[in-house]
Amino acid sequence: MKNLVVLTGAGMSAESGISTFRDAGGLWENHRIEDVATPEGWFANPELVHSFYNQRRMQLMEVQPNPGHFGLADLESHFNVKIITQNVDNLHERAGSTWVLHLHGELMKMRSAGPGEEVYDVHSDKMEYHYGDLCPKAYPMRPHIVWFGEDVPHISYATEIVQDADILVIIGTSLNVYPAAGLLNYAKKSTPIYLIDPNDVKVDSKSVQLIRKGGSEGVGELKVLLGI
Ligand code: APR
Repeated sequence: MKNLVVLTGAGMSAESGISTFRDAGGLWENHRIEDVATPEGWFANPELVHSFYNQRRMQLMEVQPNPGHFGLADLESHFNVKIITQNVDNLHERAGSTWVLHLHGELMKMRSAGPGEEVYDVHSDKMEYHYGDLCPKAYPMRPHIVWFGEDVPHISYATEIVQDADILVIIGTSLNVYPAAGLLNYAKKSTPIYLIDPNDVKVDSKSVQLIRKGGSEGVGELKVLLGI
């Protein structure tokens, strides 16, 4: 089977009811990014940061994967599909995709702020975290989110995955945030690239085939173009 690699961003989950970032005027769900998505914000007001991600988890429980997510899961019958997502939600997994790499972390995980940086799953019996909650080794717990200014731990691995792509699909990302936005540059010259987005996205590569549609309709059109 051919390797079909998908890079997704916030637009992938827009039709599920989760707002994108850059459409919201620099605010994330009415919060300044600096307050809730930077190490400085965390040190200044950890309780605010916990409360913000508690709300995001509650929101995630109320939304469902959309037909775009399900369409990508269906592609696994025809391709070796690998999804690299910038999203911190779990909608790809809930739609049935079996290989998902989260570049910017996951809402449903917490991490020790101690030296081991152990990662813990969030379970439905404790969805809310507060300042003072400790990991089993007695270090503070922080959201397992890659904040602005922090390294993206999986970026080298993601680069290798893109290099191995026979087909690359980009969905719902403004390609504004690096290093994720640079990933498409690692695709082989012969690899066709499809970009699904209802709005203009600046891409240098001339070999990109644009599908100017939302995620659900766009994945449907992609299937037709791929002959399935
Ligand atoms: N279907 C597909 N794409 C859509 C849809 C839709 N229904 N609605 C909007 N979009 C597109 C927008 O046109 C835009 O190009 O989704 C893209 C969203 O871009 P951003 O909001 O910039 O999100 P993203 O690229 O994922 O941001 C990257 O920035 O804030 C950080 O860490 C955060 O992972 C995030 C990163």
